[in-house]
Amino acid sequence: MARPKISIIGAGNVGANTALFLFLKDLGDVTLYDIKGDMAAGKALDIMHLASIWGTNSQITGTGNIEDTSNSDLVVITAGKRRTADMTRDDLLAQNGEIITSLVDSIQQKSPNSFIIVVTNPLDAMAHLALEISNFESSRVMGMSGVLDAGRLAHFIREKHQVAIENILTTVLGGHGDSMVPVGSNSFIAGQPLDQVLEHDEIKEVIERTRGAGGEIIKLMGTSSMYAPAAAVWKMAQAILRDEKAILPCSVYLQGEYNLSDVFLSVPVLLGKGGVERIIELPLEKEELKALHNSAEEVKELTRKLNIN
Ligand code: NAI
Ligand code: 2OP
Repeated sequence: MARPKISIIGAGNVGANTALFLFLKDLGDVTLYDIKGDMAAGKALDIMHLASIWGTNSQITGTGNIEDTSNSDLVVITAGKRRTADMTRDDLLAQNGEIITSLVDSIQQKSPNSFIIVVTNPLDAMAHLALEISNFESSRVMGMSGVLDAGRLAHFIREKHQVAIENILTTVLGGHGDSMVPVGSNSFIAGQPLDQVLEHDEIKEVIERTRGAGGEIIKLMGTSSMYAPAAAVWKMAQAILRDEKAILPCSVYLQGEYNLSDVFLSVPVLLGKGGVERIIELPLEKEELKALHNSAEEVKELTRKLNIN
């Protein structure tokens, strides 16, 4: 069977680290594209040099020519501006909207059968834009946020309660921003609901820390997070390309689920060779559902500014 072709658009911090993860995990042949073509080529060459050290026959090519992304099975979009400490993700809307519009226009022509994973912020609005511009089925276009946000919540819980990380199951739904909804009723420590293990104040603290984690990292290092986002993309890519049927929280187009329509939000989805094969509707508590609806309103308000409907 032919090896999947994966293109990563944008060879900056998130793009290059995503390329590295996909290369190490040998998910397919990777093309790393950036308008700064030499930089993409240099990073790809550096990664190729680790093949014999790591022991993989993976291939990666760096390029400044978008033609080289043609006939991809999966395209990951990380190109665009990232926010500085004084910006919100939403401030990025106009600039990144233009970048996504032109890139997705090329992707739908050059890789008409691909899946698209959007990483560029503001995430949910950019994923919605990618769906509109590509005109792909909604099962083929998704945004990466929930896997990262749930990973962050798990980390902060483990700081409070020392257990193996695989014993912590977390769920974070909603928009990838301040309105995200860490779901206490669907987060567990070794099968026990969160509120049976942590104090009320501790739960409040880990939830707030999760909401602010992206900003916390920017304040500390001056650039956005990159390693955990790259790992989150790898997890989604693997679920699709290896038909894992893994249930992961991803930003997807809702059409009535959770009583929400015409909005991209992170919810649990079953990922496999058909992309988003199923959207899972969790039984949420009243307050959680309300928070999800509030988050949807925020995302819709922002998305409306793109004038795509
Ligand atoms: P970066 O600045 O390190 O890399 C962005 C790259 O995009 C640059 O190399 C730039 O040359 C390239 N680029 C810009 N316009 C392009 C175009 N038209 N075609 C090809 N390449 C182009 O930024 P970083 O840190 O990698 O972040 C990228 C995006 O991902 C930002 O919008 C950031 O906010 C977002 N992000 C989203 C996360 C999420 O959870 N969804 C997590 C982390 C970052
Ligand atoms: C993050 O959450 C910047 O959205 C990015 O780290």
